[in-house]
Amino acid sequence: MKKFTKIMSLLLAGTMLLGAAGCGNAATEGENEGSAADSAAVTTVQEGKLIWGTNAAFEPYEYMEGDTVVGIDAEIADAIAAKLGLEAQVENMDFDAIVPAVTSGKVDIGIAGMTVDEKRLKNVNFSDTYVEAGQAIIVKEDSDIKSSADLNGKIVGVQRGTTGDEYVSDEANGVSVASVERYANGPDAAQSLLAGKIDAVVIDNEPAKKIVDNATGLVKLEENLTSEQYAIAVSKENTELLDAINGALKEMQESGELQAILDKYLNK
Ligand code: ARG
Repeated sequence: MKKFTKIMSLLLAGTMLLGAAGCGNAATEGENEGSAADSAAVTTVQEGKLIWGTNAAFEPYEYMEGDTVVGIDAEIADAIAAKLGLEAQVENMDFDAIVPAVTSGKVDIGIAGMTVDEKRLKNVNFSDTYVEAGQAIIVKEDSDIKSSADLNGKIVGVQRGTTGDEYVSDEANGVSVASVERYANGPDAAQSLLAGKIDAVVIDNEPAKKIVDNATGLVKLEENLTSEQYAIAVSKENTELLDAINGALKEMQESGELQAILDKYLNK
């Protein structure tokens, strides 16, 4: 009887191990043991899903292609979800709704080219950073604005609630603009710039390049106004998920997968 119990419990343990390994999407023998263990440990808002909040008007990080959210962050979200044995599901919303969505449990995480900053850190945790970025200035080709100093006394457009908004709204940063116009997204601000309603747009560097590429008559100035790091926002209450995400990011960094995603969208 004792022997029988022992065999049963061994069998049971074996089954549980197999079950756990089965959760990791890419769980081939011996590989990804860490991920399989992580997926067994994480709890998410909806079982089996990794719901990520974003604002998909921020090419090349996230933007719409038909009905689909594509871009660097979309690929990172899919890759992390796969490593955790979860199905990625995106929720597209206003940028300034993302942190509240994470804290209220509407979404598991925010991936939105989101800069780690002091204010946000009061409400959410951030993963390890995955990209370096900074703010840039977009003006019309014939503009007399040639540098950040020339923003003084000008009407500047930004995406509401972004670090670009913070930068131009705070005179401590060395700029004293006439007024800040806040838009739902960068492309809307660029439309307004083209229409002559504002003098410049301040937005993250790579999205600035895309906006200029997608329009006629706009240029991006060389100057970088800030130095920022993007990371994934996670609820302060779900530290297991934070650890699992950092584990997945680390794997992606080490395997070159992260760099491959960045190369696909940047520098071209
Ligand atoms: N990096 C900036 C910030 O964190 C802008 C991010 C905007 N992202 C977006 N998906 N619209 O404030």
